Amino acid sequence: MKQRLGAALAWLEDRTGLVGIVRTVMQHPVPPGATWWYVFGSATLLAFLVQVVTGVVLGSMYVPAPDDAYRSLEFITNDAPAGRLVRGMHAWTATAMIVLIGIHALQVFLFGSYKYPREVNWMTGVLLLAFTLAMAFTGQILRFDNNGVWSTIVLVKMTSYVPVIGDDLGRFFLAGDVVNASTLSHFFTFHVFVIPGLIFAIIGIHLYLVIRNGISEPPEAGRPVDPATYRAWYHDYLRREGVPFWPDAIWRDALFGVLLVVGLLVLAGVIGPPEVGAPPSPANLDTNPRPDWYFIWLFAALALLPPGIEFYFLILGSGLFFIGLFILPLLANRGERSWKMRPWAVGIVCVIVTGVGALTVYGLQAPWSPDFATQPLSAEVVGATTGPVANGAQLFHEKGCHYCHRIAGSGGQRGPDLTTIGDKLSENELIWRIANGGVNMPSFAGTLTQHELREIVAFLQSRRSAPAPAQNVPTVR
Ligand code: HEC
Repeated sequence: MKQRLGAALAWLEDRTGLVGIVRTVMQHPVPPGATWWYVFGSATLLAFLVQVVTGVVLGSMYVPAPDDAYRSLEFITNDAPAGRLVRGMHAWTATAMIVLIGIHALQVFLFGSYKYPREVNWMTGVLLLAFTLAMAFTGQILRFDNNGVWSTIVLVKMTSYVPVIGDDLGRFFLAGDVVNASTLSHFFTFHVFVIPGLIFAIIGIHLYLVIRNGISEPPEAGRPVDPATYRAWYHDYLRREGVPFWPDAIWRDALFGVLLVVGLLVLAGVIGPPEVGAPPSPANLDTNPRPDWYFIWLFAALALLPPGIEFYFLILGSGLFFIGLFILPLLANRGERSWKMRPWAVGIVCVIVTGVGALTVYGLQAPWSPDFATQPLSAEVVGATTGPVANGAQLFHEKGCHYCHRIAGSGGQRGPDLTTIGDKLSENELIWRIANGGVNMPSFAGTLTQHELREIVAFLQSRRSAPAPAQNVPTVR
């Protein structure tokens, strides 16, 4: 038996060379004294593999069409054998993967492991971080409930502020001007083919570089990195003190991986997948739309920043943040690695962690909810009893806009006060906004007829601080 196995391996080695490669990788020396801090990279990889397996299972039953998405998710959750467990696993592992990749990035940053010769390890890692977030984002859109659709609208709104190409970028994401069936197939393609493909390729490069450059040794204060001498030193150091990767170093990764998968199975089995929220519709105002928790801080920041600059701030802020992360090792690839000697690095990590944490807590507690007790506007406030403006005012109430928006002191406060909105937004801007919705505002494209939309817009255009001059009175075409 043993002989046959040996013969088979020899055959494979002769034809492919793979056996030798695996043996070299497993036996390659690694620095001694690696701690539990080093398990997060392999755990992120494991989480990704769990996502691939559970994702393929889900993908075989999910239907990427607005009405069917909802039903197929219900089928998966309630009827398919082990469907609830698989969906639960996919959702919990998504959360786990974000936490793990976050800790992995923080650890690598604090340990200065991005310095020479591991600059490209870090840069491919930053790409993996960005694509992991993109997976989380596109994934929640596939549920195609309130949260998913509204998140899409936030994304489009944010990208529309990118200079020059913003509008095209927004249209590219939506696959058109409004959120509809093409949008969903578009995001399905990203989530299932494009981004995972990129992640696979980059993981390949990332792991190759981990082997080629070696795992970084635990940092020590007073042992700075000097590109001129580092490689020779590291080589010598491994020869003197290195231990074989298998089994001396890998047991921690293996143990942590087993605990991780067991923990996720328990969460998926006991708590299960997130409820599929109501489909996006103004009839479902009582649902409290929230993005998945890892994006809540972003929504909270949007709500807190003064209107007008918030999206510039976020686009500019997140753009600069990722570019900064990406080029970090090109700016500082030498010197001390120990965090004890790098107060700036520690300070930056503290600011980011507390900032995102505080915004998340704020976002989770935000008490914004629509006011259902609102009474219709009086004719006096509307300023007309017949015609499009009066009809628009009535629709404004009937379609639920009033529950979220105040006019002349009456109405909910979830959205901005619209008393003088006619001063601020043009007819086209109003149509765009109502059809597409916004942060915490549902999209009305599918629920208002063209005619109703025009009447509401006529009403909103009549809301001005001073009475509009006669020639500017909006007409309904
Ligand atoms: C669930 C609450 C909610 C409902 C219902 C709602 N909105 Fe909104 N609306 C908001 C929020 C929140 C914003 C701010 C969104 C943003 O900044 O992206 C907003 C923004 C707007 C704006 C832009 C205001 C500005 O100052 O830029 C207009 C116009 C508007 N809504 C009109 C309507 C109309 C018309 C309806 C009914 C057809 C409606 N809304 C229904 C919550 C709501």
